[in-house]
Amino acid sequence: MITVIGSANMDLVVGTDNFPTQGETVLGDIFDTVPGGKGANQAVAAARLGSSVHMVCCVGDDMFGKSIVSNLQKNEVDCTGVGVVDGASGIANILLSEGDNRIIVVPGANSLLTPAHIDAMDEVIKKSKVVMFQLEIPIPTVMYALEKCREFGVPVLMNPAPAGGFKAEMLPFITYLTPNETECEQLFGVDMVDALETHPNRLIVTLGSEGARYFDGQRHVIVEGFKTKAVDTTGAGDTFNGALAHGIVEGMDLERAVRFANAAASLSVEKFGAQGGMPASEEVEKRMEEGSEVQ
Ligand code: RIB
Ligand code: NA
Repeated sequence: MITVIGSANMDLVVGTDNFPTQGETVLGDIFDTVPGGKGANQAVAAARLGSSVHMVCCVGDDMFGKSIVSNLQKNEVDCTGVGVVDGASGIANILLSEGDNRIIVVPGANSLLTPAHIDAMDEVIKKSKVVMFQLEIPIPTVMYALEKCREFGVPVLMNPAPAGGFKAEMLPFITYLTPNETECEQLFGVDMVDALETHPNRLIVTLGSEGARYFDGQRHVIVEGFKTKAVDTTGAGDTFNGALAHGIVEGMDLERAVRFANAAASLSVEKFGAQGGMPASEEVEKRMEEGSEVQ
């Protein structure tokens, strides 16, 4: 069982040929509202792969909150840990252009996730094989929940995004840390190789379409990504993380779990929306068999 402690948003997605520059108005060709938020995305990614997943988050008492919850339920994510608070749900304003994106998140209800919400989930957290975190909820709540995971002896997978919320004190509580290259640089400074070697089998740096890498204590393991035709890369990192957690819980060794996560992420970017395209296990296995890694 996996528990995700994190954010849930409604993504307001606008597609356009060109991003506007300052003071410029451009016409767009897509507008859609789709469920998102790094926490909810990671929960849905793991659930689609067949993991049993609990989500701990806060939504507002608005229309978006209702559809965020019903989307989680539709994806068979357990919502016992979802709090409903007064006010607006979190939203993300996403500009999409040629597969590239720019995102502004307004946390809303996500900023009201408190230690009391975590305490209410003690029994579930205790039974979890891994607890997943990102940094779109209040940092004191993250710290509180990390301490709880350590007390219960539950492994932690932290996706340090957005990286600004990361605190060095969090490191000892984390079993797997999955920044992208930019986040890795923000966390550890410029020398990625050095950071990887300091955190063997723990720091896994995602490299976008190139895959991911980590250091296993002896050698640098570079796990190549799969060739894909990206329509929308929003949520690719979340799919990677959800799939990595799923793989680890299923008992895959780290290299296989990372390859599995790469394959899942490569499938997710082929469809519109953060959660659109998040695959089932069979699709991931198929892509892994095809072995179409980027060379
Ligand atoms: O990682 C992608 C997600 O980041 C989007 O779904 C958006 O809601 C933001 O939280
Ligand atoms: Na997608």
